[in-house]
Amino acid sequence: MTAPIIRHLTDLRACTKGWHRAEETIGVVPTMGALHDGHLSLVAAAKAACDRVIVTIFVNPKQFNQSTDLDNYPRTEEEDARKLARFEVDAIYVPDVMQIYPEGFATNVSVGGMTDVLCGAHRRGHFDGVATVVTKLFTQTSADKAFFGEKDFQQLMVVRRLARDLDLGVEVVGCPTIREEDGLAMSSRNLLLSDRARVNASRLIEIMEDVVGQLGTGADFAPLQAKALTRLAAAGFTDIDYFELRACDTLALLARPSAPARLFAAAWLAGVRLIDNIDIPVPD
Ligand code: PAF
Repeated sequence: MTAPIIRHLTDLRACTKGWHRAEETIGVVPTMGALHDGHLSLVAAAKAACDRVIVTIFVNPKQFNQSTDLDNYPRTEEEDARKLARFEVDAIYVPDVMQIYPEGFATNVSVGGMTDVLCGAHRRGHFDGVATVVTKLFTQTSADKAFFGEKDFQQLMVVRRLARDLDLGVEVVGCPTIREEDGLAMSSRNLLLSDRARVNASRLIEIMEDVVGQLGTGADFAPLQAKALTRLAAAGFTDIDYFELRACDTLALLARPSAPARLFAAAWLAGVRLIDNIDIPVPD
């Protein structure tokens, strides 16, 4: 059975009020739609942990720094509702812009420090847009738990920090990245790849895994990074925004995985920006 699609905040509040009165826990899975198995794994995690589950679908204009990117973002609401049917979620919240940013909206939520690097450095204003909309979605849904994928690891850190700093009373749960058979991290943007680019896209994770393997043998990162950039260019990646080794907790740059670390990459392939990150075991 397809879940009710709710488009107005007043209708959403009518549901959540009743659920809270009945002392039911509410889980939210914020999305921008074009749902894939990565999103659906978050929905499954929310279903397992909460009495009620709301999936939100809102293509947030404030987090896009190029209008063409916003215009091209895939919108597949009917298909999304069909994919959610088997999970029996309690509501699909699909607000229009006025429900989120009513006339005269003038507030900006900005998380300092950790947003100066990686995607924050390459997409100015992006994380302010994410932080602002996520704060709105948390307060509008009054969720107890919220589910985010580790594929957007920096986003997960930003959201955790804002939930804590603003005492939003929501537990932010990180869930593992879900991958295609060839290793490509699932992303709504993969739909924008041409057939040829799709074949090359998996080279990103392949090269990242090679680097992680060599880091495990005690090699320094700098020469591995240089070689990886050459290999990515040979695979057709045009601009490489970053290919960096960073600490998991602070996102500080590392020369070798001396602390719990992750390898982060963002690169453009045939006009599509792909991002990925993987955990690195600390060598003994
Ligand atoms: O990861 C996303 O899809 C978006 O950044 C989010 C968290 C739904 C906010 O718009």
